[in-house]
Amino acid sequence: MKKLKYGIMGTGRIVERFVGAVRSSEAGEVYAIASRSLENAEKKARELGISRCYGSYEQLVSDDNIDVIYIPTINSAHRENAVLALTHNKHVLIEKPMTLSREDTKMLFDMAREKGLFIMEAQKSLFLPITEEIKKIIYDGVIGEIHLLDYMISIPEVGFKWFYDRKAGGGALFGSGNYILAHAMHLLEEELISSSGHATLSDEGTDLQCIFNLKSEKGILVDGKITTMVAAESGVTIYGEKGRIFIGDFWKARHAEVFVYGEESRQVSFPVEYEMVYEVDHVNRCIDDRLMESPVMTSKVSLSSAEHIDNLWNHFLKRV
Ligand SMILES: NC(=O)c1ccc[n+]([C@@H]2O[C@H](COP(=O)([O-])OP(=O)(O)OC[C@H]3O[C@@H](n4cnc5c(N)ncnc54)[C@H](OP(=O)(O)O)[C@@H]3O)[C@@H](O)[C@H]2O)c1
Repeated sequence: MKKLKYGIMGTGRIVERFVGAVRSSEAGEVYAIASRSLENAEKKARELGISRCYGSYEQLVSDDNIDVIYIPTINSAHRENAVLALTHNKHVLIEKPMTLSREDTKMLFDMAREKGLFIMEAQKSLFLPITEEIKKIIYDGVIGEIHLLDYMISIPEVGFKWFYDRKAGGGALFGSGNYILAHAMHLLEEELISSSGHATLSDEGTDLQCIFNLKSEKGILVDGKITTMVAAESGVTIYGEKGRIFIGDFWKARHAEVFVYGEESRQVSFPVEYEMVYEVDHVNRCIDDRLMESPVMTSKVSLSSAEHIDNLWNHFLKRV
């Protein structure tokens, strides 16, 4: 496979883990990093051992050697950053949520398709070996027919200010809602319908916590809880007629536990240092195969998630 050169837009907290994942991948190379400030770009490049850095995103996307731009900027900037990268004929891997609306997400997929470029929303949980193994266990009928998925994401210590800024795309739902939606659609292999929910809003107008529920087209119920207000065990429990499966921190999981009623539980484990490596390997293969979208993290999943998040946010505002 051809080596693919990654350019990283921004110097946020997630960048270090992404760099580790690209360096552990089969065909990825960390080529350059950019910040809106040259000083920040130089500092991050030094820290992470990246040989090229730029003091603007425009300079990054203008580098002809770069194949793929990774966009881990604040949520509200994703749309504009992706348009910039696509305009300069770069493939794009864009952090979740892809944009703040279904309309903008659709515009990015349309633009990439018109230009013959690959674009994908980063949803690393879909590419984890543990996710594939648990799907196999489910479809082999080990815990019987599935009727309920119960998700919890607890982030009791929010480490960044823009979480409280609605215009920046902050809040529990926009930050983590699509982790749940994409994971559930991937496990169930069907779309979700009828979203409804409640939230606790901050004085600044973002949600500090939210709960929501949906059902799959076949009638499986999905319930999601995201909180920054209480500490709780994060994960998903998949309930079937003969047992249940618990995947702690399902979006970056290395372990899961399978409980079949009347039997001893068993652990499933896939240790790895940088869990994003599977996602990066997938992106590299898609680009090598000249695909414009991933067959796993599809535009359908991104668009459906964005539509539910739009709908849920409107629900929350009406119910305050
Ligand atoms: N997949 C995952 O595991 C995972 C985990 C955490 C976060 N994320 C996602 O990654 C993205 C970044 O999250 P993070 O926690 O790394 O955020 P962060 O530490 O706050 O970094 C965000 C970066 O955005 C850039 N930026 C661009 N426009 C900006 C603006 N107008 N105001 C402020 N910053 C701006 C900044 O880079 P410069 O100043 O250098 O230009 C900044 O460093 C989010 O979309 C988040 O949802 C993904």
